[in-house]
Amino acid sequence: MINIVLCGGWGLRLWPLSRKLYPKQFYRFLEDKSLFEKTIIRNNKFCDKEIIVTNIKQYDLALNQINNMNIKNSHFILEPVGRNTTAAVTLGCLTLKPNDIVLVTPSDHLISDEKEYSNVLRKAEILASKGYIVTFGIKPDSPDTNYGYIEAKGNDVVSFKEKPDEETAIKYLAKGNYYWNSGMFMFKASIFLNELKTYAPDIYKFANKAFKNVKSYEPLKIRLEDMLQIPSISLDYSVMEKSDRLKVILSDIGWADLGSFEALYENLTHDKDSNCILSNEVILENSYNNLIISKDKGIVVIDVDNLIIVDTQDGLLISKKGSSYKVKEISHKL
Ligand code: GDD
Ligand code: MG
Repeated sequence: MINIVLCGGWGLRLWPLSRKLYPKQFYRFLEDKSLFEKTIIRNNKFCDKEIIVTNIKQYDLALNQINNMNIKNSHFILEPVGRNTTAAVTLGCLTLKPNDIVLVTPSDHLISDEKEYSNVLRKAEILASKGYIVTFGIKPDSPDTNYGYIEAKGNDVVSFKEKPDEETAIKYLAKGNYYWNSGMFMFKASIFLNELKTYAPDIYKFANKAFKNVKSYEPLKIRLEDMLQIPSISLDYSVMEKSDRLKVILSDIGWADLGSFEALYENLTHDKDSNCILSNEVILENSYNNLIISKDKGIVVIDVDNLIIVDTQDGLLISKKGSSYKVKEISHKL
């Protein structure tokens, strides 16, 4: 099995922890490991090699962490500019043999039950080798519109809807047979490329062209003019919403997408006042349910509840819990 690791996002909803030159997947805030490192270590047990698809600006960071882990069989595909996940996965598949089984994983998720994860991968591999595109369904606990929704009937996928509006997501939850798409996929390289040829022929055409024009292989560098020709659309819209080769495995694997400070808060440990603190020097007085992250600076918090306070060398965020997603649109104004 080959792991294509998607690693080109900027995580702008986590500014100032995550920023263009230091995206969140590389930040070591959990047990001294980054989410990227945790992803590679988790999948390395099952995979013969990793293909890490990332932006050229993130190469040094990623390579550094790979070297630290002493991972031997990893290869990089460097994008001069991101063209979303279909392009990244397609470029990865073009380097492989048709029958190679591919496990696509984001690099910014948490999976806490690794034993169940291994069971789930084993089931997925059986379906993938039969020619299916396997998705991993997570039991939803809210009508979150940041996710894709899989309508399941056993392992069959009745429909796939990427990021529905809230009204639709509420209806899905009430029905009971809809699952969040985890953002991981498994398939044979040839099956994915065939589906792409059918449903997104332009991406297939321009990604092939970009791949043929590559002059530098380790790391494999895509030329800017070629990359810009590839339509920018996520895998979920280009293939998953359209393909009728989808299967789903229900995955009770302790999955969490740490895509926002609120999600970080939910998934980290709390003190007795339900504060979550990532810092050595925080003093709280009569304050509850806050997330506080700071490096190298003392912080005093008095009489406040439900705040997100994140202080780094690059900036300071103070937000009400529930509103921090707005930072994505605002922080670039700085
Ligand atoms: N190399 C590369 N190039 N990687 C990319 C690019 C790109 O242009 N764009 C995004 N990625 C990486 C991100 O770093 C992340 O690891 C992964 O691809 C998924 O991209 P996101 O931008 O985080 O997608 P999303 O969270 O909005 O939605 C996806 O994940 C959800 C679960 O977290 C979808 O698959 C949803 O259906 C799913 O529910
Ligand atoms: Mg994401």
